[in-house]
Amino acid sequence: MFSISRDELGPNFTFGAATAAYQIEGGQTDGRGTSIWDTFSSTPGNVKNLDTGAIACDHYNRWPGDLDLIRDGGFDAYRFSFAWPRLIPEGTGVVNPKGLEFYDRLIDGMLERGIKPYATLYHWDLPSPLQDKGGWMNRDIASWFAEYAAVVGHHFGDRLHATATINEPWCVAFLSHFLGIHAPGYRDLRAASRAMHHVLFAHGTAIDALRAESVKNLGIVLNLEKTEAASDKPEDIEAQNLGDALFNRWYLDGVFKGRYPEALTSRLAEYLPEGFEKDMEVVSRPLDWLGINYYTRGLYAAGPNGLFGAERRSGDLETSDLGWEIYPKGLEDLLVRVNRDYTKLPLYVTETGMSETNDERRVKYYDDHLRAVANAQGQGADVRGFFAWSLLDNYEWSQGYTSRFGIVHVDYETQVRTPKASYRAFQGMLHNTR
Ligand code: FCB
Repeated sequence: MFSISRDELGPNFTFGAATAAYQIEGGQTDGRGTSIWDTFSSTPGNVKNLDTGAIACDHYNRWPGDLDLIRDGGFDAYRFSFAWPRLIPEGTGVVNPKGLEFYDRLIDGMLERGIKPYATLYHWDLPSPLQDKGGWMNRDIASWFAEYAAVVGHHFGDRLHATATINEPWCVAFLSHFLGIHAPGYRDLRAASRAMHHVLFAHGTAIDALRAESVKNLGIVLNLEKTEAASDKPEDIEAQNLGDALFNRWYLDGVFKGRYPEALTSRLAEYLPEGFEKDMEVVSRPLDWLGINYYTRGLYAAGPNGLFGAERRSGDLETSDLGWEIYPKGLEDLLVRVNRDYTKLPLYVTETGMSETNDERRVKYYDDHLRAVANAQGQGADVRGFFAWSLLDNYEWSQGYTSRFGIVHVDYETQVRTPKASYRAFQGMLHNTR
C-alpha cells in the first residue's frame, strides 16, 4: 500500500502507465517494416542474451487484456508509442493500412474503456531505410519525421488526448551515437553532435506538422537527471556543470530558450551542423506541456574518462537492481528547477520506475516519488500527472528481458500477466476515482 493518497496530488491529477512499441508489441507481421532495433538487437554484443523485440509481450495480439489491466488498475491514461515502421515501412512514402488498423483498434479500445491516450511518435524504432541514409545524423530527418507526424496527426489526431514528438532526445542522440549503447550504436562525437541538433530540429518540424493537422495538446518528453558534484572542489563543480549541460540543458535550453549552452556550442563547434543557429526558432516552437522522465541522479567529478573531463561516478545511495541510485528528492528538485528556470507549462512525470524483482521495494519507490511530486507542487511546480514505467515487464533495450520494470509481471514463456504488489498499490489508491 501507498502512504500517499490521491487527494494529495490535487483534484485533476492524471495517473497513467507507460510503455513503448518496440518493448512490448512484437507482431512483426502485417506489413511492418524493420527498425534499427531489429538489427542492433540481432548483432552479438549489443543486448544481453541476444534478446530481441520480435515477440516481446505480444501486445500486438494481447492489447485488449492489457488495456483491461490499465482500466482495472484505476489509471486515467495510457502512454504508448506508435511504431514508425509499422505505419510507414520505408520511413517515408507508402502508408501501411494494417498499421493504421492496429492503432485504430488500440486507441478506440482505450476510449471505450475511458482511458485517455497519451501518444509518443518516436520511442526509438527508426525505420531501417532511414538509417541507411544516415538516420539522425542526416538533416533530412526533420522532413521525414514531419511527414510521419502528419500521417499520425491526420489519421489519429482527434482521438489523442496528448501527443509527444520524441521520447528522450538525449538517448536518441548521445546514448545511441556517442556511448553506443543503443541503436544504431555509434561511438563518435561528430555523429552525436549532429544527432543532438537534428533530434530537436525534427521535434520542431513535427510540432508544425501536427499543428497543421489541428492536433491539440502537444509536447516533448525529456529524460532529465538531478546533477550533483562529487565534492565542492571547483573542478568537480565544473564537471557537474558540463554533465548538466550535456544531459539537461542542451535539451531544456534548446526547447525553451531557443539556444544551446555555450559550454557545449564552443566545445562541439567543429562537429555541429553548419548553420544550426538558423533552426533554433523551429527547435523552440511553443508547446502545451512538458513530459519529464526521471530515474536517478548524475554525480560528476573531474577525471580523464568522461567527455570534456566530466566523469559520471556512482554514488553511495541505495540502488535498483540495475545499479541506478534511488533519489526521490532529485525528482522534487528537478520539477522545481524546470518550473522556476524554464517554463510555467504543465509538467507531467511521463516515466519513473525501477528495475527490481522484490516488488515491495517498488511500492516504496513509487510512494516516495509520488510524495516528491506533491512536494514539488507545494513549491509551485505545476505537475499534472504521473505515469509508471512500466505497465508490463518488457524488453529493456540492451538489458533484454533480464530487467523487470513492470507493475505487472510477464511470464515470457506463456505470456501470462500477473499484477504485482505495486499494481495493487496503485489500484488501492485509485480505486473508484476515475
Ligand atoms: C527510459 C526509456 C524506457 C525504459 C526506461 C527504463 O529511458 O524511455 O523505454 O527503457 O528508461
